[in-house]
Amino acid sequence: MDVFEAISGRRSIRKFKKKDVERDLILKIVEAGIWAPSAGNIQSWEVVVVRDEKTKEKLAVAAYMRDFIAKAPVVLVLCADKQRSANIYEERGSDLYCIQDAACAAQNMLLAAHALGLGTCWVGAFDEELVRKTLDVPEHIQPVALIPLGYPDEKPYPPLRREIDDLMNCETFNDM
Ligand SMILES: Cc1cc2nc3c(=O)[nH]c(=O)nc-3n(C[C@H](O)[C@H](O)[C@H](O)COP(=O)(O)O)c2cc1C
Repeated sequence: MDVFEAISGRRSIRKFKKKDVERDLILKIVEAGIWAPSAGNIQSWEVVVVRDEKTKEKLAVAAYMRDFIAKAPVVLVLCADKQRSANIYEERGSDLYCIQDAACAAQNMLLAAHALGLGTCWVGAFDEELVRKTLDVPEHIQPVALIPLGYPDEKPYPPLRREIDDLMNCETFNDM
C-alpha cells in the first residue's frame, strides 16, 4: 500500500471481528514503531501488548467504560519513558521529547496496522492511575495511548478535515 493511501485510508476503528491477531503481525506493527523518528534516536517509549480478557476489561473501565477496548482481541498500551529521555535531555526530554517519541511510534503503528488490514483507534481519554495500577506501570513511565487492535468490523465514513487555508500560514502567523 502506497504511503499516501495508508495515511488517507486509515480510520479509527471501534468495532472488531472476533478474530485473533497473529503474533507475527503484532511484531511487524511494533517494528514499524521502532522505525519512527525519535529525539536523538533515544526511542524513549515502550509498549505493553495486552491480550488477557480481564486486563482488557480493566483497561476499558480505566477508559471510562469504552467497551470496544475490551472487545478488541489486542490492546497496545503505548508509554513514554520519561527517565530515558531525561537522561540525555533533562526536563525537555521528560516533559516533551518522550511524549513526541511515543506519538511518532504510535502513528507509525496505526499506519502499519492499516496497511496489514487491521484496525486501530488511539484512545487518549483514560484514568492514568487506573492504567498504572492495571499494568504495574513504573513511576518513570507515562501511559500515552491505549490502542485497541483487531480486524475491522466497520467501515467508518472519513470524518471531515480542516481546510488547508485554515491551518497553513505563510512565513509568519501574521499572513493575511
Ligand atoms: C491524541 C488523541 C486522542 C484520542 N482519544 C480518543 C478517545 O479517547 N476515544 C476515542 O474513541 N477516540 C479517540 N481518538 C481518535 C479520534 O477521535 C479520531 O482520530 C478522529 O476523530 C479522526 O478520525 P479518524 O482517526 O478516523 O481519521 C483520539 C485521537 C488522538 C490523536
